[in-house]
Amino acid sequence: MKTFILGAGSMGEAILTGMIGGGRFQAGDIVVSDRNAERLRAIPAARGVNRFGTNAAAARASGAVVLCCKPRDLDGVVVELEGALSEDALIVSTLAGVPIEALQRKFSRRKVVRLIPNIASSVNAGVTVWAASPDLSPEQSRWVRGLVESLGRSIEVQDETLVDLATPLSGAGPAFTAYFMDSLVEAAVEAGIPRPLSIELVGGTIAGSMKLIEAEGWASRAVRARVTSPGGLTAECIAALERRGFNETVLQAVSAGRRKTMEMKEGASAPCAAGKS
Ligand SMILES: NC(=O)c1ccc[n+]([C@@H]2O[C@H](COP(=O)([O-])OP(=O)(O)OC[C@H]3O[C@@H](n4cnc5c(N)ncnc54)[C@H](OP(=O)(O)O)[C@@H]3O)[C@@H](O)[C@H]2O)c1
Repeated sequence: MKTFILGAGSMGEAILTGMIGGGRFQAGDIVVSDRNAERLRAIPAARGVNRFGTNAAAARASGAVVLCCKPRDLDGVVVELEGALSEDALIVSTLAGVPIEALQRKFSRRKVVRLIPNIASSVNAGVTVWAASPDLSPEQSRWVRGLVESLGRSIEVQDETLVDLATPLSGAGPAFTAYFMDSLVEAAVEAGIPRPLSIELVGGTIAGSMKLIEAEGWASRAVRARVTSPGGLTAECIAALERRGFNETVLQAVSAGRRKTMEMKEGASAPCAAGKS
């Protein structure tokens, strides 16, 4: 099935790169568009993929449209694609906070899949939480599984609210991890370790720790306990984190993401700006 990726920003690029890198999709079966032609030229994975003059022409030539624009651009896209989607078209949305029901209503199509991937999809190491409307054909269901699995770990849920709840965790999560890495690097530099060595030490430690935690069935608490002997150096560091409210800060960060997702959800429930609802 021809796949049209609409929007080649961070997520569109990650999905395109992951699809091609995963080996299940050929560049010739993918169509990509972005408002900015320069952006498309700068994406290595976009070499060899198809481009059409308009989003409508690209949608007409494709069986599935993967929406990778921002939620604020959705209503404009609905107008652009009016009349271009077949009755059977599969709409795959990465848009945070936009429910399946709103997409079905805006596009007047039944077959909708909602994904929250993350940026690690570009190296086939993403985690994608997704929910589908019950209207997909067996072939479309197989195709979606193939798409998501080629991006990394696939978590299908029946309860769509889990997609919203996962958004600040797995969707924004790579930024949390990178932020923690940056903080450790700054601490290392402050302590006098040259920056390149700090980056290698911290990056290698995070990558190695995650490999170990995964190998032990995600037993993060057990791994933590093994490194933290009572009264020892690690215990001293963790106590300092706890005194400064590390847990509470993380909780607040996730709550802020949840609030933002809900705001986006409310925005998506409003009628189309162009009057089509
Ligand atoms: N980034 C993440 O880690 C992440 C994680 C999970 C979900 N998501 C979701 O993924 C979606 C995309 O996010 P992003 O971070 O990739 O945003 P982004 O970097 O801003 O990319 C969106 C791209 O789509 C283009 N675009 C907008 N309207 C278009 C249209 N009508 N035709 C063609 N191209 C169009 C934009 O062009 P302009 O720059 O000209 O507007 C931009 O290049 C969002 O809905 C977000 O909720 C993102």
